[in-house]
Formats: sequence, C-alpha cells, structure tokens
Amino acid sequence: MFPTNRPRRLRRTGVLRDMVRETRLDKSDLIYPLFVRHGKGVKNEIMSMPGNYQFSVDTVVDEVGQAWEEGVRSVILFGLPEAKDDIGSEAFDDEAAVQMSVRALKENYPGLLVITDVCMCEYTSHGHCGVIKDNDVDNDPTLALLSKAAVSHARAGADIVAPSDMMDGRVGAIRTSLDEAGFSDIAIMAYAAKYASAFYGPFRDAADSAPQFGDRSSYQMDPANSDEALTEVQLDLEEGADIVMVKPAMAYLDIVRRVKDTFQVPVAAYNVSGEFSMVMAGVQNGWIDRERMILEVLTCIKRAGTDLILTYHAREAARLLG
Ligand code: PBG
Repeated sequence: MFPTNRPRRLRRTGVLRDMVRETRLDKSDLIYPLFVRHGKGVKNEIMSMPGNYQFSVDTVVDEVGQAWEEGVRSVILFGLPEAKDDIGSEAFDDEAAVQMSVRALKENYPGLLVITDVCMCEYTSHGHCGVIKDNDVDNDPTLALLSKAAVSHARAGADIVAPSDMMDGRVGAIRTSLDEAGFSDIAIMAYAAKYASAFYGPFRDAADSAPQFGDRSSYQMDPANSDEALTEVQLDLEEGADIVMVKPAMAYLDIVRRVKDTFQVPVAAYNVSGEFSMVMAGVQNGWIDRERMILEVLTCIKRAGTDLILTYHAREAARLLG
C-alpha cells in the first residue's frame, strides 16, 4: 500500500513551511542579562562568555542603547558589589551598582522593561545565597534580607524583581514587603524550578559568585527531580509569583512542558551561561553554524512551552529576527 498521507507535501516550499509553522520566535520574547559594577568607563569582557561584559553604569546605558536599536525591550540586571560581607549588605544598598543602573536605564529608556535579579550570592563573602548558620544557609533570616533587596530595586524603578535564591517562602515574604512599601504593582518573576546545575559555571566568573565552601545543593533542586518542580512552582504561585521560571533551559525542557501543561501562567526559561558558552565554544571551533544554532536553540525553548526567554544571545537573536 502506497501511503495516502505524505507529510512531505507541506514541506515543499518556504512559503508553505512558514504557513504551517507552529512556533514563532519573536523579539518580544527575549530578556537580555547584563552584569553591572561600580566605576566609570568599565567594559570587562568575561573570558568564559565571549561577547559578554561587566559594565559600569555609563557603559551599560550605551550597551542597552544598542540593544534597544536592535529590538531588545527587556533586560535583567546582576550586580557586583564594591565590597562583600557576611550578610551581603550591598544587595540592599540604594547606591549599589544595580540600583544606580536601574535609575540610569529608566531615565534614558523609559519604555525599557527592567528586571532585577534578587539574590545574595554576589554580595556575600562566602558566596552563598543567604546568611550562614552551621555551615548552611539559614532560610528564615535570609527572607528579610531578600525582601530589603527587592524593595530597594523597586525604589530604584525596577518593573519586575526576580528572586533566584531558592529559599522557602521568599516569594511570599517579598510580596508582603513590596506591598507594604507601596509597590503592589511591581511583579515577581520567581526562579521557581531552579536546579543545582553545572551549567552556571561561566556565570560565577561573570558575577564573581562561586560559593567559597560546599555547593548549592541544600537549596537548589536536584537535576534528577521533576515532580518537585511542580511543587516549587505551585508554592511560588500561591505566594504571589506572577511569572515562574525554569532554569537551566535546554536540558530541562521536559520541566518547562510539565509546568506549562499544569499551570496556565506565564513561564520563563533561562538559557543560562553554560548553555551559551557551549554554543560559543562550538562556534569558535568551527564545529557548528552560529546563526542556525542560536535560532534553533531559542525556537525549541519556546516550542516546549516557554513564554519569556532569558538569553545571552538576545542581541544577536534580535538582529537575526530583523
Ligand atoms: C544567583 C544566580 C545564578 C544564576 C542566576 N542567578 C547563579 C547560581 O545560582 O549559582 C545563573 C545564571 C547563568 O548561569 O547564566 N543565584
């Protein structure tokens, strides 16, 4: 019997393939991560992340200006402190690099959506995401510090705060603090299903945030778990999260799909530093096609059920999408 159905019929021409395409990547899906620090005229390339830099307030304004021209409309900021201490005080200092950058970006680009990462690991001397007691992060006292950081970001003008620490109860604590401070309109994008992943390696160079002892397995999730991701997402939604994130993205697209099928809410996925650097290493070795690879990675992340994609490829992808 010769087949009646021939799927190849709809693949014959580019116009036809365009018409039956299910997933369309759009510039408005992209969020561009940026690292900011103190100083002036700073643009330090991050060796393990080609084409990414640590910026000072003035140079990040230039960078975002170029990204804006290319069609990028949203950024997420990570900060490096001038000095670190036990409790990461600079995380909630109104004059720290993130807060100053938020103010400068909002002033220069009022239409830009500014998201801030809320965490302690860049700011603590021990490199963990909260305060330490008995060699582990002490959950409940950390919530007050995260809340102070979130309120400080909102005061600077952030549109969305994104807690990435993985403490229990932090979304609820941050929501309450924002509301009490008069920021009930500021949204929370929760790093809800965040795994203890080797894919964050290059980021820790970029943000100088490697833990000085142990690892993050007592607060970030075990890569072997999937049901637990749904529990984390459910708790964050109950506590008031507006957007939930899965992180990393590429090796975790089954998690994205389960989250999207279970909860009909906006889902973000973080195409993290290690995923970016693997692609760039392949490109630099001449092993893979740069442009096709970037668009394929991002399209597939979206196909899995992602609404918003945090990616270091944001500027290039925006250029490619035209
Ligand atoms: C801070 C934080 C990390 C990332 C985002 N926020 C690092 C970590 O948890 O160790 C990783 C982002 C990336 O790898 O691109 N907690």
